[in-house]
Amino acid sequence: MENIIIAVDGPAGAGKSTIAKIIAKRLNINYIDTGAMYRAVALSAKRNNIKTTEIDSLMNMIDKMEMHFENDDLILNGVNIQDEITLPEISEIVSQYASIPEVRSKLVVLQRKMSEKYNVIMDGRDIGTTILPNAEVKIYLTASADTRAKRRALEYEQKGESFDLDQIRKDIIERDERDMNREISPLKQADDAVLVDSSEMGIDQVVDAILDVYNKKIQK
Ligand code: DC
Repeated sequence: MENIIIAVDGPAGAGKSTIAKIIAKRLNINYIDTGAMYRAVALSAKRNNIKTTEIDSLMNMIDKMEMHFENDDLILNGVNIQDEITLPEISEIVSQYASIPEVRSKLVVLQRKMSEKYNVIMDGRDIGTTILPNAEVKIYLTASADTRAKRRALEYEQKGESFDLDQIRKDIIERDERDMNREISPLKQADDAVLVDSSEMGIDQVVDAILDVYNKKIQK
């Protein structure tokens, strides 16, 4: 039987990882968070003091990175780095590394390999368009900038951290701008992706909508 492949793309804060994790559990398949892999590159570069212009050093660094997921956490060379890669200081620099063509070429290979071995739901920005163009289920999950900013603010509130809603909204819009307008593999809805706008939807509704798309596909 062919592997199950579900591609979920969309802007930052649309809820891709929350939804993809739930669907992975429901279907008993693996969740691959490609954003986490770009974050791991940014973290390693920061630790080793490698700038975005030092392409050879970056390539050598990536060649030494063994990445896999355990219980949805990213393990880098045997160490769980999930908490570190989600720190704001990594969020701030990651898109600079993610826009380097050579970095993307390396990660494309790793991400495709993961989908060959396992049944996966993979989320990111370019999964349906570039990484897995043959995925049978493609979802473009989005939400208004306002909704996404409010969701992020709620996360800060729950962690007891201070925040500025206007600043969060501004950061989200800027990040969308960068992700949608970079030269290589910009964030874009694949022609055959199903658009799900979660602005007015709860988590369960989004999960059900995506499972509905999946069930209809596999019945065909
Ligand atoms: O989804 P995230 O916030 O963890 O993604 C981190 C960064 O990596 C973000 O700037 C977009 C980028 N990214 C990408 O360019 N391609 C992907 N497939 C996944 C993430």
